[in-house]
Amino acid sequence: MRSFDEYKQYVEEHLLDPFPEADLEASILFDSMFYSLNAGGKRLRPVLLLAACEMAGGNITHALPYACAMEYIHTYSLIHDDLPAMDNDDLRRGKPTNHVVYGPGMATLAGDGLLSAAFEVMAEDLSVRVNVGWELKPYIMAQYEIAEGAGVRGMVAGQTADIKAEKEGADGGLLFYIHLNKTAALIKAAVRAGLYIGGASEEMLEDMTVYAEDLGIAFQIADDILDVKSTTEELGKPVGSDEENDKLTFVSMYGLEKAEAELSRLTAEACQAAAPYDDDVFFRSLALDLEERTS
Ligand code: IPE
Ligand code: IPE
Ligand code: MG
Ligand code: MG
Ligand code: MG
Repeated sequence: MRSFDEYKQYVEEHLLDPFPEADLEASILFDSMFYSLNAGGKRLRPVLLLAACEMAGGNITHALPYACAMEYIHTYSLIHDDLPAMDNDDLRRGKPTNHVVYGPGMATLAGDGLLSAAFEVMAEDLSVRVNVGWELKPYIMAQYEIAEGAGVRGMVAGQTADIKAEKEGADGGLLFYIHLNKTAALIKAAVRAGLYIGGASEEMLEDMTVYAEDLGIAFQIADDILDVKSTTEELGKPVGSDEENDKLTFVSMYGLEKAEAELSRLTAEACQAAAPYDDDVFFRSLALDLEERTS
């Protein structure tokens, strides 16, 4: 397996390769989508997808369209998350948010365009494969995982609960539901999609699902902690946004110390789940790095 930075570089180099071609009349829409896609970001989800594929014995070139699709969906979720009607944030990835530059209408459409492009790219990949007689099941399963993780039983459901909780306040069960869905669902989808494409065993799928869910919830707890502890310069997005929006977070519900303890517990549990397969220690080092992250 490669390092995080090697996978990330591969994603960065090819992120726009499969993107559907632009109509001239809609060029502003493309500017707006590319603005957010090119603004940087950790590229965590596509890297996870490629690494999972390779760990399962697959070839990352076959997984590339799905990795790109994951980043399109993630970027759309950030554009919509920042809208005035949602978290109303004006900085993302160190730049003014999409709606600040292009207006809320165009930002909404940029999100719609990115989400649709993700599915167009994956469907196109299937259509190419079917024509040359490939076994399609792993690719169909990958697409199914991504659709489920992004949709009404995944990220969108989590974002719905996140808004609902602004009004309804503290509830431990709801907090878990929010983090599991708004954040862990896409992370889980990335890992499972990569595993399907790589040809993973049932056992590997099951154990790595535990890893991905733990990592995903831990990732959002770290995000909640950084919203309180970090600086806007370091994060590239406004700190204090959660308190301003009355968000239900691990920090607002349990305090910093308990949030940090839960982050460590989930990280350790994730590492344990990945251990049997993780010969190169890729997944365990990643979980530990994300626990310690400062941005
Ligand atoms: C931000 O995700 C949204 C959360 C789920 C916390 P990332 O922290 O991965 O954002 P980028 O892609 O690096 O900007
Ligand atoms: C967002 O959670 C999760 C998404 C689905 C985008 P947050 O609202 O905490 O993410 P940030 O802090 O704005 O990146
Ligand atoms: Mg939000
Ligand atoms: Mg937000
Ligand atoms: Mg946040």
